[in-house]
Amino acid sequence: AFKMAKNWSQAGAAFSRAAQLQLQLQSKHEAASLLVDAGNAFKKADPQEAVNCLLRAIEIYTDMGRFTIAAKHHVAIAEIYESDLGDIHKAIAHYEQAADYYKGEESTSSANKCLLKVAAFAAQLEQFPRAIDIYEQVGAVAMDSPLLKYSAKEHFFRAALCHFCVDMLNCKLAVQRYEEMFPAFSDCRECKLLKKLLDAHEEQNVDAFTDAVREFDSISRLEPALTALLLRVKRSIPGEEQDLR
Ligand SMILES: *[C@@H]1O[C@H](CO)[C@@H](O)[C@H](O)[C@H]1NC(C)=O
Repeated sequence: AFKMAKNWSQAGAAFSRAAQLQLQLQSKHEAASLLVDAGNAFKKADPQEAVNCLLRAIEIYTDMGRFTIAAKHHVAIAEIYESDLGDIHKAIAHYEQAADYYKGEESTSSANKCLLKVAAFAAQLEQFPRAIDIYEQVGAVAMDSPLLKYSAKEHFFRAALCHFCVDMLNCKLAVQRYEEMFPAFSDCRECKLLKKLLDAHEEQNVDAFTDAVREFDSISRLEPALTALLLRVKRSIPGEEQDLR
């Protein structure tokens, strides 16, 4: 009734009390499912309490050996930390835990989805080696799969940009390595962009760098996180002091 009235905190509290009663009756499965209901209700009123309820549900599910569903709720918690509580470090921890459980259940594609979130956050936090590791691993798996081949270039592109943020030469060597491993990479627009950027960087030509980015962006829009990395690289060009974007 509270849920119907959209009284989320009371709904959450009622579900949580019902879960408590089920636990007293040793009905673990019902208790966990009510804690998930509580979590979903609290999500709209009290995100931290939602996390607490989902964590209690996860504890029960992992006890029962239900790791896939536990992973799913770790993702839900990660999303709450990401969008409601603004705590990227905690979001990373829960995406990693989810990836770990998914891997254990042989759900590689779900695990990789979580790891790609970790990589994106790591890049945002300038933890480039951590991001590179993930992008290279996921890219190497994708390039051997007929279904995922198309996405490999995207992972290698992101890995190369992270390398570029650390050091230009690292990026150059990485691009060569990706082309050797995965010849189709050479023909993609991402690789061509990287080569133009490397040349522009080497020649300390800020205009060429900006033009190459603009040209790429006019055909397929670069997401803000990638633009941020590119800007960081551009600022590392000697003689480039201010934002000329
Ligand atoms: C939710 O329900 C409680 C108990 O009936 C009430 O005291 C409270 O004002 C309600 N809150 C909202 C936001 O409607």
